Amino acid sequence: ATGMAAPLSSLGFTAVGKSLADKVVVPAGYDVQVIYALGDPLKASTPAFKNDGTDTDWDNRAGDHHDGMEYFGLDANGKPSANGISRGLLAVNHEATTDQKLSSFFIHANGGASTLPRPAAEVEKELSIHGLSVVEVEAKAGQWSYKQASNYNRRITPTTEVIISGPAKGSEHLVTKFSPDATRARGTLNNCGTGKTPWGTFVSGEENWFGYFHRDAKDDDRRGKKDKSVTGLVRYGRPAGAASRHGWESAGADDKFVRWNNGALAANARADYRNEMNTFGFVVEMDAYDGQQLVRKRTGLGRFAHESVSFAKAVAGQPIVAYMGDDSRGEYMYKFVSAAKWDAADANASNRIAVGDKYLDKGTLFVASFKDDGTGTWIELSMNNPIVAANPDFEFKSDADVAIFTRLAADAVSATKMDRPEWGGINPRTGDFYMTLTNNSNRTVDGDMGADAANPRVYSDMKNGKESKGNVNGHIIRVAQANPADTAFKWDIYLFASEADADKTKVNLSNLTDENDMSAPDGLAFSPATGLCWIQTDDSAYTDKTNCMLLAGIPGKVGDGGKKSLSYKRPDGSEKRVDTYMGKSQSPDILKRFLVGPVDCEITGLCETPDGKALFINIQHPGENTPMAEVGNPAKYTSQWPANAGYGAGKRPRSATIVITKKDGGVIGS
Ligand code: FEO
Ligand code: CA
Ligand code: CA
Ligand code: CA
Repeated sequence: ATGMAAPLSSLGFTAVGKSLADKVVVPAGYDVQVIYALGDPLKASTPAFKNDGTDTDWDNRAGDHHDGMEYFGLDANGKPSANGISRGLLAVNHEATTDQKLSSFFIHANGGASTLPRPAAEVEKELSIHGLSVVEVEAKAGQWSYKQASNYNRRITPTTEVIISGPAKGSEHLVTKFSPDATRARGTLNNCGTGKTPWGTFVSGEENWFGYFHRDAKDDDRRGKKDKSVTGLVRYGRPAGAASRHGWESAGADDKFVRWNNGALAANARADYRNEMNTFGFVVEMDAYDGQQLVRKRTGLGRFAHESVSFAKAVAGQPIVAYMGDDSRGEYMYKFVSAAKWDAADANASNRIAVGDKYLDKGTLFVASFKDDGTGTWIELSMNNPIVAANPDFEFKSDADVAIFTRLAADAVSATKMDRPEWGGINPRTGDFYMTLTNNSNRTVDGDMGADAANPRVYSDMKNGKESKGNVNGHIIRVAQANPADTAFKWDIYLFASEADADKTKVNLSNLTDENDMSAPDGLAFSPATGLCWIQTDDSAYTDKTNCMLLAGIPGKVGDGGKKSLSYKRPDGSEKRVDTYMGKSQSPDILKRFLVGPVDCEITGLCETPDGKALFINIQHPGENTPMAEVGNPAKYTSQWPANAGYGAGKRPRSATIVITKKDGGVIGS
């Protein structure tokens, strides 16, 4: 996989229109097949999925809410081969599940319990549908399907044993009853974006894990308010009194339930789970080809609401560089630079996890500071930085503390608060790094999250002539570096997402049209085969006009659109001007809508065969706005996809992987 198989300089398909239909819409000349949905069996002995809430053996089925995903090729004999185009493995994130009040209602016959305590049998199922899966897929005569009996098939859930690796290994803040020496932990949770390492492993970001933990109102008092652990819990979204998303902690006295309760304190940290929440929030690495290797928590990449991991092109003799984002309002963008220099022989190593140890366990974490003049700096987050080491608000004792309480270190150096960093990608034509900033309802003209050059848009929604506060539709920022390991960068805004008919001076700044308008860009990936920039949406602002979508772009270079001034009137009548730097206008020649999904879904996860001829994406949570009480009434489901596309039993909507191919056998997008 060197260079682009067939770099595209134009978009050869006709844009699809916005759609509210309960189906996947693609351009003329393309086929869509559903290949892998929630509940599909991953072992020969696991019964077919009935999809009525009575299914069993959930540890051997596809999980829920398919999210980020990567492809790993196999040769005709089923051996690992980066060039495998008709047989391969998909490693898939199962981020979360469709719920309204505690219960994941579509997987329980009667919708499950919406009050506490939760029945243990329901919680067991809900644990199993989170995490990761590896599934083998194969094309025969152009038809893709997954292989139920493949020995490669694997599930990782929030209860699977994993290894803590990197600077936080052995930290006092990761000590639990499960691992008193803080070298192991259980599971991975709320896995969102992904990445593929230059040595051929899968990495996955743990995003909204904190929402799964219960803290009772007295927990601060029990720990002592000045305790570092309390500062950490609060900064990561768990103030005392916070209720957990599913109430898993209420299901019984077994440790597998108790661990979700931060307040169940025993004599000391080795006897309880007071630190359990600190064992989540990392990037995990898995060798999709080797089911014997435990998953690693790569703590050197920091702890936050991780999305994807974008690896800059690996260059012999240079460090490995990975770009990342923290998806919460006003959180930061990060970069990891390895201590070890890239040895090209490692691309073909057979012990891939050992290569991961070499490049991801020792290195330096940086956080982004964007300046008003179109430049920026990556600021080091380590004990070498005196501002971190001498920080008065939180006593960092070691780089392990920085790895675990990364957000607090980034606060200390006054990094730039962004409009919810989601996925990133590296443009193979230029080496530039792109990151979606999906939206931020808290962005205001002035204040803590006042409009700045990198997050300049406050009034987004111009429906009915009314200005609404916040960056409702999101934007995509990009960063250019002479060498990815440098601390200096240049940046601009590749595009502002917008409805086509919004005000072109305030909102639709990239001049989007009916063929490419969008809201809330979230997933983003460049095709290594064609160089196309794929953009996926996770929106709730434009959903009166269209379901979520996938677009293809051919972006230019950082700075190709010049400077732009935005002006805001404050309540007292004074003016605030914000200068920013823009990509060029996005005409349909260079940005076009390729796909629209079924009702209530998010479009996410994107990977392809190395020849660029089969594109895999995920349809996440179709029908999620179905009223929980209507779980037994298919007529009331907001979506019946993928059953209505001919896939599987029952009518309950299911998250699923689809594959898109071109009828003429060509490259996707050509
Ligand atoms: Fe799971 Fe930020 O998306
Ligand atoms: Ca996302
Ligand atoms: Ca999102
Ligand atoms: Ca989602």
